This record gives sequence, structure tokens and C-alpha cells, in this order.
Amino acid sequence: MQLTSAQKDILDGKEGEVKAKVMKTLVLFGDIFGATKLVPVTHKQGHLVTSFGIGLLKPLFRTMDELIAAGLCAEGKFTVDPRPVDYANVKCNLLEKLVFDKFMYSEQTRYEQQLSKVGLRDKNAFTCTCYLPETGNVPKKGDVLSWAESSAVVYANSVLGARCNRNSGMLDLFGSIVGYVPYFGLLTDEGRKATWKVYVRTTRKPEAQVLGSAIGMKVMEDVPYVYGLDRFIGTELNDDAVAYLKDFGAATASNGAVGLYHIDKLTPEAKELGESLIAPDAKVYVVDDAELERVYKSYPVMWKDPSAKAKLCFVGCPHLTYGQLCDWTEKIVSGLAEKGRKKVAVRTVLCAAPAVAAKFRATDGYKKLVATGARLTEICPLMYTNNPLTKGTPIATNSNKLRTYSVSRYYKDADILQIICGGEVKK
Ligand code: F3S
Repeated sequence: MQLTSAQKDILDGKEGEVKAKVMKTLVLFGDIFGATKLVPVTHKQGHLVTSFGIGLLKPLFRTMDELIAAGLCAEGKFTVDPRPVDYANVKCNLLEKLVFDKFMYSEQTRYEQQLSKVGLRDKNAFTCTCYLPETGNVPKKGDVLSWAESSAVVYANSVLGARCNRNSGMLDLFGSIVGYVPYFGLLTDEGRKATWKVYVRTTRKPEAQVLGSAIGMKVMEDVPYVYGLDRFIGTELNDDAVAYLKDFGAATASNGAVGLYHIDKLTPEAKELGESLIAPDAKVYVVDDAELERVYKSYPVMWKDPSAKAKLCFVGCPHLTYGQLCDWTEKIVSGLAEKGRKKVAVRTVLCAAPAVAAKFRATDGYKKLVATGARLTEICPLMYTNNPLTKGTPIATNSNKLRTYSVSRYYKDADILQIICGGEVKK
């Protein structure tokens, strides 16, 4: 890898031994992927994927201590993924609380103190949807980033036109500290070319998270160019389209390993460059109603008792946009009214970023939501479900990401609403 003299100086320890180790890690990482050089991070605000103080992650805490002792800090500060627990809104029994506090997230307080010292932006910076305007970590088209959270990386690349690889945890922080990332993959024009043409030929708007799942499982880490979605979500990146793409992208990134997709006539690079973004030998995948149904039916039911009724519903993984929060509240309120109920039939938790939740809490919509018995939280539901005790609870979700990484069961939006409102889910 070609390094500039400033980069070589850091590697040679002229800015300290610890910074040299940080640089060496980035160089080795880049070498593995055939990077030709390091390029400056132009969007200075970072985003970290590691938000949880799991006691077992001792090397992480040691590394943080080393960075702090050396006085190293991310130049442009950073946001970070959501916190793991919120006992006020996601109730736990005493045993679960004990497991969380004493075993699983026993280092949460220490870790958050470490995060503050290496550049955490503020106490409300905990969300995976850092790119929404309320949180305000919004890169511009062409910006180079040092992020790792897969749902945020795919959104930034695809919807914002920024450039970021699917880095792993800690490399996101290291890139933000030295201000450089290795140049390969999705940072290059070549790496942003689509090697799949995907034709959406469904008769109605596909469920975002099932379509994303289908495409993710088909193309894996490749870049798809998707035709036919503009019929359903339009050709402008308005609030509804952006919310759809957030959920679609998270499913492509978790059910597969997609870091970038292009949507014909909609996403910035597709609008600007059109079919010139497609590699000459691109493969073809057609998604019709039957294909979506096949994918949906292939999801395993991991509940201990597959015929059990859900006892908890999580909506908002990735975190909901403000518009989605308003929309879900309206749907729950009117769904309950139709059933002649005042309260949700199942414990229901909606998840959103602290800044989005704060905006919503100032509205009448929040009062209506709370009156139904549903709760609003800022945590990551996966961190909550990632616990041996909750594995016995039948948890329902409309998140394909949460389904993939936990034993939660996936339901389409309309079915989740039925469950919440006490209706029957069609077989
Ligand atoms: Fe976000 Fe946690 Fe889901 S980080 S995407 S809410 S798994």
C-alpha cells in the first residue's frame, strides 16, 4: 500500500506508539482487501457499532483504556448504536435484570465513560439511524466515512451516495481517530458497479423487509441495481421512500451482506449515472409475488413452542423514523378502536432514536400511544433479546434483521398490527 509521508510518520510512531498501532491495524486491514492507499475521511463525524458493555469484551475495554491513556480521540466526535437496556419502558423481571446487570451488560457504565473520553458526541447519540435529520449525523454525496453498523453503512452508501465499506467494530473508531480509511471496495467507482440486475415484478408494493431479505440472500455481498420499485415508492427521496429504503437496506445487509444498492430512477447514483452503473456481465434476479412468498415462508420459526401466541412485539429495528412512529401510533389506535379495545393485546414496544423519540414525546400522538399501553424506547431490541432468559419468550417483530439475529418471529406489518390489536393472524 502506498502511504503519504504524513501517514508514514504516524505508522513510524512520530505521533506516539498507540496511534502507530491504530494506523498499523488500518494498514493491515486494507492490505487484506488489496487496498492501494489510505484516503482521508471527509465526513468527520463517525459512527460506532459497539454500544454495549458486555463483560466478556475485555480486549475492547483494554484497547479503549490504551487509547484514552494516549490522549487519542475521534476528531469529529461520533454517534453510536443504541443502548441495550431501558427498564422503564422494556420491563424485565428480577432475574432478567440480574442477568443484564451482573453478567451481560455489567460494564455498560464503564464503557459509556470510555466512549465519552474517545469522542462520543453526547448522551443522546445512541441510535443506529444516526443519518436521520433529528440525530443529524448526515454525510453528503461522495463523502468518505469510517462507520461499521451494517444498516447505517448500506443507507449512507445507497440513499445518501456517501462512500463506506462494511468495516468491523473498532475499525470504525480507528478510522475516525487517524482520519484515514483504506481505499478499496465500496470506496472505488469500480466497487460501486452493480453485478446484479434485480427486476421487481410484484403486483403490489412489496414489504420492504421481505424484499430486502430476498435480494440480500440472493446477491450476498454484491451490489444490486433494482428496477421496478419506483412504481411503488416513486422517484423522489421523500420521507416515505427514505423510511422504506431504511428498512429494505437493513434486511439486505443482515439477511445478506449488501453494503450498497442502486434503485433505478431513485437513489442518487442511479439518477445520475443510470445503467452505466451496471457491470457488463451482471446476473439477473426476478422478484415476483411467488418469489416473495417463497422467501417469507422459508423463515424458520425458532420459538420453543411454534404454536404459542406472541407475548411481546418489537417494532423499530432499525429505529423508526418520526413519520413511521406517527404512522404506527395511528394504526394501533384505529386498529384497537375497530376491535373495541382500549389497550394493546400484547406487550408492545416501538423503538426510535433519542432525538426522534423526544420530538414525538412532545406531541399528542405520544399521549395516544401511551394510552394504548404501548411503550416507546430508545434501545436496540436485539440487545434485549440477546439474553438466555428472553429466549423462552415468544417475541414477534416486523424486523427481518431482528429475526435473523435472534429467535424472534417475523410477521408482516399487517400481521403485527393484528397481534397488537388482539386480532387473528391469517394462516
Ligand atoms: Fe438498530 Fe439494533 Fe436493529 S442496532 S438495526 S435496532 S439490531
